[in-house]
Amino acid sequence: SPWYYREQFRPQFHFTPELNWMNDPNGLVYHDGEYHLFYQHNPHGNKWGHMSWGHAVSRDLCHWEHLPIALHEEYGTMIFSGSAVVDSKNTSGFGTLENPPMVAIYTGNGHGKQTQDLAYSLDNGRHWTKYSENPVLDLDEAHFRDPKVFWHTPSKRWIMVVSLAAKKIIQFYGSPNLKDWTLLSEFGPAGVDTKPNWECPDVFELPIEGSDGETRWILEADIGGGSIAGGSGGEYFIGEFDGTTFHADTQDSQWVDYGRDFYAPISWDNIPEEDGRRIWIGWMNNWETALVPTSPWRSSMSIPRALSLREVDGSLRLIQRPVRELQKLRGQELELTDVRIDGNQAVPLGSLNSRQLEIIAEFEVSDAEEFGLRVCEGPDERTVIGVRPGSSEVFVDRTVSGDVNFHLAFPGRHAAPLSVKNGRVQLHIFVDTSSVEVFANNGAITITDRIFPSEASDGVTLYSKDGATRLVSLQVWELNSIWHN
Ligand code: FRU
Repeated sequence: SPWYYREQFRPQFHFTPELNWMNDPNGLVYHDGEYHLFYQHNPHGNKWGHMSWGHAVSRDLCHWEHLPIALHEEYGTMIFSGSAVVDSKNTSGFGTLENPPMVAIYTGNGHGKQTQDLAYSLDNGRHWTKYSENPVLDLDEAHFRDPKVFWHTPSKRWIMVVSLAAKKIIQFYGSPNLKDWTLLSEFGPAGVDTKPNWECPDVFELPIEGSDGETRWILEADIGGGSIAGGSGGEYFIGEFDGTTFHADTQDSQWVDYGRDFYAPISWDNIPEEDGRRIWIGWMNNWETALVPTSPWRSSMSIPRALSLREVDGSLRLIQRPVRELQKLRGQELELTDVRIDGNQAVPLGSLNSRQLEIIAEFEVSDAEEFGLRVCEGPDERTVIGVRPGSSEVFVDRTVSGDVNFHLAFPGRHAAPLSVKNGRVQLHIFVDTSSVEVFANNGAITITDRIFPSEASDGVTLYSKDGATRLVSLQVWELNSIWHN
């Protein structure tokens, strides 16, 4: 196995750059058996700067192959976030019908403004050429960024959703060829909302689970600060997109994730219809506490999550589930069924290598005030994933999770509303060295948090506080590293 990727906090089944800084996922597009992942990257250092597009590909959404940097900062213009499409009809003329181009649509940041620019590749994203007549959209605006483009079949044209970030206005444009864009409509601003910025919008249609083929659209956007758990985070609106305008069902948005570390998710374009999934990935970090204690790289992506909509407590909610491909990383398994956890007693889970884990637990609520699991536990450290049925909440508490002192805003407890149905609660948890991702009640709620436990803190414990809880079932797998075997 390679010597690298063995650092103390290095995630073992999440995507991380080998070296240096990373932020948002960019240009997610599926083509010819490969999921492309581009990302905001500083090739020259371990903090934000010189923004360029790093690049990796995967055939299974688990294992990633690093490729050379796709788009470099040049002539004082940084390559900010954006998307990529396969122009299969060669509408742009950058390729041919026999060899259609992959086209990146990104924000050029420099010289006091942000514009929308193009680059193309004729060899599956391996080499890129910037369009000589960039920019293709220039409003002379300092905060105009993060274009997400897709082909809209009913109106036979490209649609771009892009943000006037500081004004909190999302714009929709249409184009026949990716080069000429016409403004179609605007969404926002979000009332008297004073939280900074709307960034990295995405818009797509999702199936409603349990319906007769019904769908709705969601519009997702990320705010730079003031989100539910503090700092940056994502929100979404449910509604309809008619090819021109997004009509929200209500002006009230919902939170994408209740932890602090899931930002700027965007979804893969061009996943084949036979597959039919909408899959996204987010930056597992928060702008407020972005300088996490890792080197020689910084940041991690989340695991890929498949999306749908489902009615939860009387209204539609975005459902996120880990993609099924991750199941192939499962190693040694531990199973328990029907265990009574007595009040104020803890059940340690023994000898698993417990820093890379997948856990699926179902609990039956009885008289306990609180129950759940402690992971990455040592004598003085633990990360608590708990449920408090009385106040209908699920939470992650990372107050004493390890190194929390690198930023005042880092330690804390992040709670989300959770309703108990038929007396039961289901938790699906991924622990990977320096992160926890919690999917509660089949993806209805997610909480994503980075943690920095010391290497010796590898315990996993079930607990119940002030009363008993019945564990209906538990499955725990050690997950294999995607970098070493
Ligand atoms: C979001 C963001 C984007 C921008 C990029 C720059 O995290 O601020 O709006 O394009 O990062 O790196």
